[in-house]
Amino acid sequence: MDKKVNGLSDQQRFNLPRHIAIIMDGNGRWARKRFLPRAMGHKAGARAVRKVVEYCVEKKIETLTLFAFSRENWLRPEEEVSLLMTLFINTLEGEAQKMHKNNIRLQIIGDKSAFSDKLQTKIEEVEALTSANTGLNLLIAANYGGQWDIQQATQKLASEVKAGNLQPEEITESLIASNLSFANLPDPDLFIRTGGEERISNFMLWQLSYTELYFSQLLWPEFGKKELEKAIEDFSGRQRRFGKTGEQVISSAEESFKISC
Ligand code: IPE
Ligand code: IPE
Ligand code: MG
Repeated sequence: MDKKVNGLSDQQRFNLPRHIAIIMDGNGRWARKRFLPRAMGHKAGARAVRKVVEYCVEKKIETLTLFAFSRENWLRPEEEVSLLMTLFINTLEGEAQKMHKNNIRLQIIGDKSAFSDKLQTKIEEVEALTSANTGLNLLIAANYGGQWDIQQATQKLASEVKAGNLQPEEITESLIASNLSFANLPDPDLFIRTGGEERISNFMLWQLSYTELYFSQLLWPEFGKKELEKAIEDFSGRQRRFGKTGEQVISSAEESFKISC
């Protein structure tokens, strides 16, 4: 019997990523190439987000994580930071109803306490509005950093040890994972970074341990459905071994194919 998940059979889903994580880089260079202020690059970047989200809804991708603002991005000129915060509020306001209508569940990941009260309230509103939705899980990483995430999880666990509720030897890999920001979600299968830089920039350090990496030369505002499709196709052709041999991977895939037929 062909079991359907999100309307797709196991076979159709076989090589599709369940979770895609993207570093949306290159807005500034996109603007500079056009002799425009960086702000215009960020606005064009917000339009590219819409296209990518639409594609993931169409393809029934379960989870999409977008890196929108790193902890290190506070180091940018004040004017740019303030523009990015305003754009964040405006995008949440402008897109909330549409996301809700499309059954998207939105969550913001990161240290939200640094944001203005207005932004924090908006985030709470949109998260509450979409919390029961069952379609695309859309995560926006903002004031997020992989090192910060590991630090806050460590602090929580250390407090439990101090309070006598936890023994140090009970701290397992899965306990650490369950105290991190992306707990209860599958780790990303596919990581994409646009803009041509080949680095992680403090994004999802723990969760990317076995993620397939894809680097696009396109600047983020140029990135769209076609390029995302190309990245997914590239992903589908890869063999993920998780430490095993290629032969082991092939024989266990054959086994599960037999069981599903
Ligand atoms: C990514 O584009 C957006 C954010 C980091 C907020 P950039 O602004 O980093 O663009 P480049 O790298 O300067 O071109
Ligand atoms: C990474 O881009 C962060 C986001 C896209 C939000 P950056 O442009 O900040 O990364 P670096 O500084 O080039 O590594
Ligand atoms: Mg950049």
